[in-house]
Amino acid sequence: MARCLALSALLGFVLSDPTPFDPLVYVDPLIGATNGGNVFPGASLPYGMAKAVADTNSESNQGGFALDGTNVTGFSVMHDSGTGGSPSLGNFPLFAYAGCPGDDVNQCVFPKKRRALFGTFSNDSVTAKPGTFGITLDSGTRVDMTTTHHTALFSFKFPTSGTYGPNAHPLILQDLSDLSDSRQDNATVSVDGASGRITGSARFLPSFGSGNYVLYFCTDVAGADILENGIFVDSRASADTKDLTISRGINGYPLPGGAFVRFQSAENPILVRTATSFIGIEQACSHAEAEIPGFDFAAVSAAATEAWTKKLSPIEVSTAGVDKSLVTNFYSGIYRTMINPQNYTGENPLWSSAEPYFDSFYCLWDSFRSQIPFLTILDPAAVAQMIRSLLDTYVHQGWLPDCHMSLCKGYTQGGSNADNVLADAYVKGIIEGINWDLGYEAVVKDAEVEPYDWSAEGRGGLDSWKALGYIPAQDFDYKGFGTMTRSISRTLEYSYNDYCISQMAHGLGHTADAEKYLGSSGNWQNLYKADQTSAYWNGTDTAFVGFFEPRFLNKTWAYQNPLNCSNLDEFSSCSLQNTGRETYESSIWEYGFFVPHDQATLMTLYGGPSAFVRRLDYLHDHNITYIGNEPAFLTVFQYHYAGRPALSAKRAHFYIPAFFAPTPEGLPGNDDSGAMGSFLAFAMMGLFPNPGQNVYLITPPFFENVNITHPLTGKTATIRNVNFDPTYNDIYIQSATLDGVSYTKNWIDHSFFTEGKELVLTLGKNESTWGTRVQDLPPSLGKYAGFNGTYSARSRMPARYTVDFGVSREFGSGF
Ligand SMILES: *[C@@H]1O[C@H](CO)[C@@H](O)[C@H](O)[C@H]1NC(C)=O
Ligand SMILES: *[C@@H]1O[C@H](CO)[C@@H](O)[C@H](O)[C@H]1NC(C)=O
Ligand SMILES: *[C@@H]1O[C@H](CO)[C@@H](O)[C@H](O)[C@H]1NC(C)=O
Ligand SMILES: *[C@@H]1O[C@H](CO)[C@@H](O)[C@H](O)[C@H]1NC(C)=O
Ligand SMILES: *[C@@H]1O[C@H](CO)[C@@H](O)[C@H](O)[C@H]1NC(C)=O
Ligand SMILES: *[C@@H]1O[C@H](CO)[C@@H](O)[C@H](O)[C@H]1NC(C)=O
Ligand SMILES: *[C@@H]1O[C@H](CO)[C@@H](O)[C@H](O)[C@H]1NC(C)=O
Ligand SMILES: *[C@@H]1O[C@H](CO)[C@@H](O)[C@H](O)[C@H]1NC(C)=O
Ligand SMILES: *[C@@H]1O[C@H](CO)[C@@H](O)[C@H](O)[C@H]1NC(C)=O
Ligand SMILES: *[C@@H]1O[C@H](CO)[C@@H](O)[C@H](O)[C@H]1NC(C)=O
Ligand SMILES: *[C@@H]1O[C@H](CO)[C@@H](O)[C@H](O)[C@H]1NC(C)=O
Repeated sequence: MARCLALSALLGFVLSDPTPFDPLVYVDPLIGATNGGNVFPGASLPYGMAKAVADTNSESNQGGFALDGTNVTGFSVMHDSGTGGSPSLGNFPLFAYAGCPGDDVNQCVFPKKRRALFGTFSNDSVTAKPGTFGITLDSGTRVDMTTTHHTALFSFKFPTSGTYGPNAHPLILQDLSDLSDSRQDNATVSVDGASGRITGSARFLPSFGSGNYVLYFCTDVAGADILENGIFVDSRASADTKDLTISRGINGYPLPGGAFVRFQSAENPILVRTATSFIGIEQACSHAEAEIPGFDFAAVSAAATEAWTKKLSPIEVSTAGVDKSLVTNFYSGIYRTMINPQNYTGENPLWSSAEPYFDSFYCLWDSFRSQIPFLTILDPAAVAQMIRSLLDTYVHQGWLPDCHMSLCKGYTQGGSNADNVLADAYVKGIIEGINWDLGYEAVVKDAEVEPYDWSAEGRGGLDSWKALGYIPAQDFDYKGFGTMTRSISRTLEYSYNDYCISQMAHGLGHTADAEKYLGSSGNWQNLYKADQTSAYWNGTDTAFVGFFEPRFLNKTWAYQNPLNCSNLDEFSSCSLQNTGRETYESSIWEYGFFVPHDQATLMTLYGGPSAFVRRLDYLHDHNITYIGNEPAFLTVFQYHYAGRPALSAKRAHFYIPAFFAPTPEGLPGNDDSGAMGSFLAFAMMGLFPNPGQNVYLITPPFFENVNITHPLTGKTATIRNVNFDPTYNDIYIQSATLDGVSYTKNWIDHSFFTEGKELVLTLGKNESTWGTRVQDLPPSLGKYAGFNGTYSARSRMPARYTVDFGVSREFGSGF
């Protein structure tokens, strides 16, 4: 075996392949396309507004297509990726028939529900690559698609034999529906008799938010002469009518309606170009004409491929010895971080502004943890534009969003997590065009002013928060309105939000504010109940004592079983239901670790480092946490704070690849706009962020070598494993150097990337003392205590440690 490897390595060297590394070889967009991953597997540019795919009638078609044995109902141009909630977008789908029975247009099946019977396909026919997607229906029709920023180009190749030969009259229809059938009254469509151009618009509902949005489209056809065109309503069509305004209907809504075009011949592929716009039909048509003037499929798909290659190339890993499936997990994960948010600059009808406009922040509760921090490394210019867009939303709508899609406000899940996103970018030195004073104003408003509708923005319960220092269970709140649940998770998230604000205050010179928000960032302690035990529902005790618990307004304790809403609890409602619990989509056990800024104090409350490690192990080993939901992410790496970085490495390998296979069913949960993808990317790269802070926790990469070239500074950061073991037995860091100098801290800051440093990790079979001493630990607001050989009480803390880890007033090095 060793000989074979050596030989191939030698051959590789001798032949000296000049082809540059191609990351796209390792991208499989179909990962997460079934089993609840809800990934959009179709054609898109990075952050593209046009996202073309075949839509299926799966129960789980949030991303449009699902590879689960369901049928294609159409081909549409707008999607979100990986989301929960209702299926998003999927507006104005196309469908195609090689011909209509008896050459009679009324014998073709128009309504979406019934045409699904013609949408069967075999799995092997599906092809998906960054920028292109294709599928062959069992009818023999092959459909390939690719996109530019606002426009999709579809190629329909009809069968030249069988029932319908080359002389048949293929039909293409476009209807006025969307994936979740949310279309409202008065949708319109028109078809131009001569050119065949189809235009129209309709009002739809967002998939996880309030309000509605209007979308316009413009479709052109090429490839064959037009036989006839017209409109259809329900199951009847006519070439005599070219315009339609249709109601939502009162029954079986929305009423099927749309346009159709029939062609003279099926001999050559029919090309269909569809662009959309939130501004108007004219703008949709001008996107189409400007972006895809010549219907040149090969050119458009080549440009899309090139755009993706450019985005992914700054990260290069050594693939030697590593199972290809892991490399595919890695690059596909990175790929998925750039599907959402979507760049709708120039497409925002809500206000006029020269600032960028991004949408599909879906949702920041998910993406603050690793997706946006990942882009801060790989695409900081895009992150700067996203932040400017968030701030422009603040300027024009009064609040930073917590969740946003399709021009609408999405539902807030807990804290005002835009605060974390802004702080993360701020402490990492993202500057380009961002007015940070405005950013500071926006986060302070989150902390200080309660919105009337805090289910869509900001925070609720601020009077209680300020008076009591926690969000009470069954709060009295007459100023603003939202679902009165999640008192524990909101308290913990608001505490962290305030820590994030305090860092910005510090950097921007608002010293008094910095102290104030640092103070309220400790509010999490008000819900800590030191004598709280945790037993399973059958009475068996977990033997851990001390948990967060809800409190009423009168300061007495309420009660929630610490295991409820955990992965083991199959009965409780833990989302945004009115019957939801005091923790959101997660248990008291898991939220019990969500004090990202003060692990030291938390650890002391839990009985010191060893007890903290035992509790973290119990969380993971007893299936209390589940890696398929975002609150689990940081818990994989929190061993670092207990001086046990080796256990974080071990835990990362416990989850990857066991819970992440590079297959359609391979994701453990909703990808949530690339959140799962970014978890994979960070964990496998060996640097996991504590988001909102200038801190990356170091574990050995899953590859011998990782190079990351900063797209703005052009400098290359390298992480290299010495004694790399692709079987992952030797995953423990024995020693490290940073730019050649011994490095014992188990964390590093963002300058690693911007300045292109080199981190060399020497690995071994056993846990070592590397990164275990108090002075090696990541920053924490409180003081570390209970570590051997250092000190056991705050008063005995050696002064020199203050500089290294006593950063309670130091705030990292970004500014
Ligand atoms: C197609 O793939 C999906 C997902 O892997 C699977 O559920 C389905 O059964 C497959 N269909 C066939 C016909 O193999
Ligand atoms: C898909 O179409 C086939 C063939 O018409 C039909 O038997 C099947 O029930 C359809 N499945 C779904 C999920 O619509
Ligand atoms: C739809 O159009 C009709 C006729 O113009 C109008 O009376 C009605 O108010 C419209 N419906 C909506 C929801 O705008
Ligand atoms: C990373 O960069 C180093 C230094 O330029 C180079 O020797 C190495 O081959 C690169 N590795 C990869 C995987 O790109
Ligand atoms: C977003 O779109 C605008 C307008 O087309 C463009 O100027 C900007 O560079 C885009 N941003 C990104 C990150 O691609
Ligand atoms: C109670 O449930 C826990 C967790 O499922 C299990 O480990 C334990 O054995 C059970 N105890 C009894 C007495 O059934
Ligand atoms: C505190 O408030 C709770 C909830 O309203 C109530 O059940 C309890 O009796 C109160 N306790 C005291 C001491 O007032
Ligand atoms: C807590 O979870 C258990 C187990 O799923 C369930 O039986 C119980 O109803 C839950 N309690 C509440 C208050 O949700
Ligand atoms: C955790 O769940 C996995 C998968 O369902 C199962 O194989 C394992 O036995 C569970 N572990 C415990 C401790 O319940
Ligand atoms: C690693 O630890 C094992 C068990 O503790 C021990 O037997 C072995 O000698 C150690 N290996 C090295 C290289 O230190
Ligand atoms: C401290 O030392 C004791 C005894 O050697 C050991 O059991 C414990 O795990 C150590 N604690 C830490 C945090 O290293």
